[in-house]
Amino acid sequence: MPPTTADSSVGPLERGIAVLRALARAPGGRLRPSELVRLTGLARSPVDRIATTLVRLGYLREEDRALALAPPLIELGLAYLRSSGIPGALGPLATALADELDESVSLAVPDGDAVRFVVQTTRRRTLSVAFRTGDALPAERCAPGPLFAADWDEPTYADWLARTRADPYDTGFPAVLPPPAGEGRPGEAEFRARAARARERGWSLDDQLIEPGLVAVAVPVRDGDGRTVSALSVVSHTSRHSARDLRDHALERMLRTAGRMGQALARVGSGPPAAAPRHDRSLDPKQELGPEYLQSLARGLTVMAALGAPGGMTLSAVAGATGLPRATARRSLLTLQRLGYVTTDAGGHRFAPLPRVLDLGYSPLSARSLAELAQPHLAALVSLLRESASIAVLDGEDVRYVARVAAGRIMSVAVTVGTRFPAHATSLGRVLLAGLPPERREEWMRHAALKPLTDRTLTDPDRLTAVVERTASDGYALVDQELEEGLRSIAVPVHGPGGQVAAAVNVSLHAGRTSAEQARETVLPALRAAAGRITADIALTCALQPLTIG
Ligand code: PHB
Repeated sequence: MPPTTADSSVGPLERGIAVLRALARAPGGRLRPSELVRLTGLARSPVDRIATTLVRLGYLREEDRALALAPPLIELGLAYLRSSGIPGALGPLATALADELDESVSLAVPDGDAVRFVVQTTRRRTLSVAFRTGDALPAERCAPGPLFAADWDEPTYADWLARTRADPYDTGFPAVLPPPAGEGRPGEAEFRARAARARERGWSLDDQLIEPGLVAVAVPVRDGDGRTVSALSVVSHTSRHSARDLRDHALERMLRTAGRMGQALARVGSGPPAAAPRHDRSLDPKQELGPEYLQSLARGLTVMAALGAPGGMTLSAVAGATGLPRATARRSLLTLQRLGYVTTDAGGHRFAPLPRVLDLGYSPLSARSLAELAQPHLAALVSLLRESASIAVLDGEDVRYVARVAAGRIMSVAVTVGTRFPAHATSLGRVLLAGLPPERREEWMRHAALKPLTDRTLTDPDRLTAVVERTASDGYALVDQELEEGLRSIAVPVHGPGGQVAAAVNVSLHAGRTSAEQARETVLPALRAAAGRITADIALTCALQPLTIG
């Protein structure tokens, strides 16, 4: 594809992607604009315009004076994962194998001369690292690498050689530690021989190449044409298995699963994207865009996010999904193709995202826990209301605080993460009980101790049941001095990806300072808005994986 640099729309998309890549590699996904200038080599003014645009799209947030990756960016990686069909079609088979073997199982895809994980089961023990969905590994340091290298063309070998020479410490792979000192990288001949052996045997080993103690065996998952589209790995630790033992223990079942995976992939046809992408807000004629807004960056990313249909999408389908004119959609697709984020089928008719899209923040963002997702929203709520806010989950008879942002004032209740309070006496607890299915709620009421904590604490199970039912229909709970004299608290639910109540957020108030009526009128709408934002972030984070709490 010849570069289209004459087109002035190319620059902003390319530069915007450079900014996202820098942030994706930064600790905590945050950088100050001056750091972005240094890391990307861009001047301050383009960095500011890119930041303005990405904040408008919801992909970045301003936090203090820094820019931070925001969960909506996950939709770019999701477009690739959905389009590939791998997590959807093969994920359940990987989980079943992990259960059968009682070991960790992952699926990886080739990404240029690297290996990128697209499914990770979470069974991890002992000291081994857990690579996350979206993380990339050097091909020569993991079990899937030689399986993929067996299919590499000469330009890919040349890229591999250039990369291994230019980056001897693997700094281009943020998920891995540098190779141990003194352990030379395999030369080209050695790595080619390893790839040829892997092809011949149909499996490949990692005997502590990536990390001391970590061993893995991988087998290819082939599509209908016999191409290796993915590698299925089983990972263990030398305290349980040597690399060879692991192979002897797992290989037969792995080959059987890989065969089933090949068949499952063949059934993934082409279809509509699983979720409607958000339209570029710059298409809204009423939207005030301002001179800082980089429309070609916004459009390019909107196109990338729209490419989630299994098997790729035609230009017309992309134009239809984004609301962009065909010529505009085409220009964005060609730019994304030139930058290595999009490919086409042999006929050039269907466009699909490439695994490299996962480099744009997917792994750090999708690994965020409930506590991490909630934190910025609680902080914004506290700066708005100047009252403390928390998020908690139900844990037996208690609520357990998962995250909390305290207002400056001294409160009578000292609460930290991990604090527990009896659920029946708190607004958080009532919201969480209201979210239980009726049978579980009844069972809870039968067993809970329901101790009085103040004169006002509700301790009668029938009255508490009625109050919890009311909470379910109102969608909030207001609890007045039942946990502690002088303390009033109001809570609303946060929902999980299936719509169930996953957690509750509250604001705690001084009874003397804020009346119940004021709490309903002023606090409740802001609390609901914050809970809605946390719920939206959970939906993205957990589109393909379960939510972690702490
Ligand atoms: C992993 O899934 O974490 C994994 C797989 C293969 C390796 C190393 C790690 O060689």
